[in-house]
Parts: sequence; C-alpha cells; structure tokens
Amino acid sequence: MTNRVAGKIAIVTGASRGVGRADAALLAAEGATVIMTDINAEAGEQAAQEIGGPVRFVKQDVSDEAGWQSLVEMVEKEFGRLDILVNNAAILQLADVKNESLDGWRRVQSINSESIFLSIKYALPLMEKSGGGSIVNMSSSAALVGMPHFAAYSASKAAVRGLTQSVAVYCQKAGNKVRCNTIHPDGIATPMAMEIAEKTPVIDEEKAKVAASYMCTAEDVAQTVLFLASDESKHINGAAITLDNSATVTPPYL
Ligand SMILES: NC(=O)c1ccc[n+]([C@@H]2O[C@H](COP(=O)([O-])OP(=O)(O)OC[C@H]3O[C@@H](n4cnc5c(N)ncnc54)[C@H](O)[C@@H]3O)[C@@H](O)[C@H]2O)c1
Repeated sequence: MTNRVAGKIAIVTGASRGVGRADAALLAAEGATVIMTDINAEAGEQAAQEIGGPVRFVKQDVSDEAGWQSLVEMVEKEFGRLDILVNNAAILQLADVKNESLDGWRRVQSINSESIFLSIKYALPLMEKSGGGSIVNMSSSAALVGMPHFAAYSASKAAVRGLTQSVAVYCQKAGNKVRCNTIHPDGIATPMAMEIAEKTPVIDEEKAKVAASYMCTAEDVAQTVLFLASDESKHINGAAITLDNSATVTPPYL
C-alpha cells in the first residue's frame, strides 16, 4: 500500500461485483474512503464487508434521478467533499439492430449512459466545491469498433465517450480542476462477460482464442482507475484509454 489516493472521497457505482468491486477494493487499499453503490443490495453489503476498512455500501439504481440527488447530498453532509467519481454500473444486452426492441434499447441507454449524465450533473458541483477531482467513466471497445450483436450497448458506450469529451472540455474551460476520462476494455473476465459467453455458442475455436487474448482482468481495470483517480494523472483530461491488448487497432485481415 502506497496511499496513492489518501484522504480522497470516492463514489464507485456497480460495486457489488466484477470491476466495480475491484475498483472499490483498490481505491480503499490506497487510502480513499469509498462509497460503493449498486442495485443489488445483498451482494453489495457483503462485498463492502469483505473489503472492510473505509468503505460504505449504499443501494442505488443509477438510472434514478432522485437517487443521484440524495446520494450526493448524503456524501456532502457526511464527508463534506467528493474527489473521485467512478461511473462503472452497466448492463450488457445481446441483440443486433433488427432484433433489439425499443424498450430494450431505452433500458440500456437509461442504465448505461443517461445514468452518467445524471451522475455528473449532480456530483460535479460538489467536486468543484472540493477544489477539483477525477471522473472515470467506463466505456468499452464496443464504442470504438463495430460489434454486430451489441447494438444498444455499443450506442450507449459511444454516448458515454461523447459526454466525457464534452465534460472534459467544460471543466478545462471552467478551470475547476475536475478531469473526465473514459476507459475502453475489450473483454474483462467478470460475471458480465461470463454470462454472455454462456449464451454464445463457440463456433470457431481459433476466433475464441484470439478473443481470449484481448481480455483483461477486473484488477487490470482497477489499476487504470486508480491511476486516473490519483494526482499522478493530473494532466490527463478527455482521454480514451484502451485496455484491450491492441484489439481495437488490429486490422481485421490479420
Ligand atoms: N465484462 C466485460 O467484458 C466488459 C468489457 C468492456 C466494458 N465493460 C464495462 O465495465 C463495467 C463493469 O462491468 P462488469 O463486467 O464488472 O459487469 P458486472 O455485470 O459484473 O457488474 C455490473 C454491476 O452493475 C450493477 N448494476 C446493473 N444495473 C444497475 C443499476 N441500474 N443501478 C446500479 N447498479 C447496477 C450490477 O448489479 C453489477 O453489480 C461496465 O460499465 C461494463 O459495460 C465490461
């Protein structure tokens, strides 16, 4: 432990399992106080207990506007500041553009991207009052390259990238010392990826091997989140950090 985020107050969404849980554990180990939120309260309480130390679990549906308002009010009242905001919660829906329903499309946009608009809308004023901070938005390689079976998901993650750029430049112009960046992994070995893998029959062993070589772990993502959350990355604002072992720059004929 080197206390890379000592004394900072952090919110991590979708922290009951997978990447969010790994982010919360690493930020807490490096000295931050972490408010872990998730829609799954039972798993969230258990994760917070297992991580131990300066973490607190709060039940939250990230797509609920009033929930964001009350979460930020609670953080301001109890901790007086907010330095790190990790927008990690999301759902993955497997459907190409012809098979996606309008309801399904709207649900994915609401949980994956509209939620991040709400998060930043309500948390940014507190981060500004705190003298600056770091917003880390989880996007995906699906925002950067075409993935036929992830129509709604890809669009939601591209929206996260667009919003991030807008917020980064807004903050730079405002001189508020808040930074906003996206992370774009390809596959991550988490429950989300495993659930999709179970639904997708392997038809080509070679392709499956290549896909596996692009995958990272939740801890790889957490290390990137820690770097972006810490002052070590103080000049990185508006960046799209790929975490994909070259997947998004590999020409398709190779
Ligand atoms: N797993 C991958 O292969 C992969 C690849 C690229 C990007 N990502 C992104 O990384 C992030 C983390 O993914 P993961 O693999 O850990 O997923 P996961 O499914 O394992 O965890 C997501 C968490 O979000 C929570 N959640 C879902 N809907 C919510 C809501 N409405 N309100 C609050 N919480 C909610 C879930 O309960 C769960 O705990 C996501 O943004 C995802 O899109 C994942």
